[in-house]
Amino acid sequence: MAQEVVTAARTPDTVRFNGSKEQYVQAMFAEIAPRYDLLNDLLSFRMHRKWRKLAVRLAGVSSGQTCLDVCTGTGAFAVDLARAVGTEGKVAGSDFCPPMIKAGLNTLQAASHAPIRMTVGNTETLPFATGVFDVVTVGFGIRNVESISSALREMARVAKPGGKIVVLEFTRPEGVSPLINWYLFHFLPWLGGLLSRRDAYNYLPQSMKSFVNRHELAQTMEQSGIDNITVRSLNFGTVCIHIGTRNEAKQEAYSR
Ligand SMILES: C[S@@+](CC[C@H](N)C(=O)[O-])C[C@H]1O[C@@H](n2cnc3c(N)ncnc32)[C@H](O)[C@@H]1O
Repeated sequence: MAQEVVTAARTPDTVRFNGSKEQYVQAMFAEIAPRYDLLNDLLSFRMHRKWRKLAVRLAGVSSGQTCLDVCTGTGAFAVDLARAVGTEGKVAGSDFCPPMIKAGLNTLQAASHAPIRMTVGNTETLPFATGVFDVVTVGFGIRNVESISSALREMARVAKPGGKIVVLEFTRPEGVSPLINWYLFHFLPWLGGLLSRRDAYNYLPQSMKSFVNRHELAQTMEQSGIDNITVRSLNFGTVCIHIGTRNEAKQEAYSR
């Protein structure tokens, strides 16, 4: 796919793309990749690390399991999974932006855990066989895909029947306080612009605003063949962990 740089035109409640969203997202992450981890630490006061660990714990990831992290970026979620599955387990990560994978390679190699196999691939057409993984995770990635339901269906397809699907994501909060609004719409783009690419850090709050809320996300998961969904709300409702299990019958019913 061409790495054409496209700009996001902003309106108050939505993000419009001059070109496809996929092209915009790929080009944007390719550009911010070298500073992605640093900015995550600064902008979330390192809380993003705790959120992924909590998601792994809530999903009950255990020794010997086989896991996949999609939209893996620099691989932070994959590393947490690898620690939980131990040397008996297996972890794969996939992302469609090679510079993000490359930016995370040092961390992946330095960490003391089982090796993680990284693959370049689109979450909407995953390059994995059906029914392989005990747990499939996505961290701060589902908001960025072109079609959320295609991505969720693919995540469910590659999970074993009864396997877990974990979505850690910023969700559109209900009734945000003025302080959080100021942080999201002023401080975050300002700091992002100072250290990286400003429009990328404008995109984050705008994409949150136009993204689904936690109820809508749970409903989309259900319609993608995932059930028994539980939701943990964090950080004043701006971040949520949705966990569900693959249900083949539901998947077939909705795909008819
Ligand atoms: C905000 S980063 C999240 C990275 C990582 N999961 C984390 O927790 O920090 C979003 C990632 O999703 C990837 N991405 C977005 N849409 C994708 C798609 N359709 N297929 C594969 N990767 C995608 C981007 O390349 C980027 O690396």
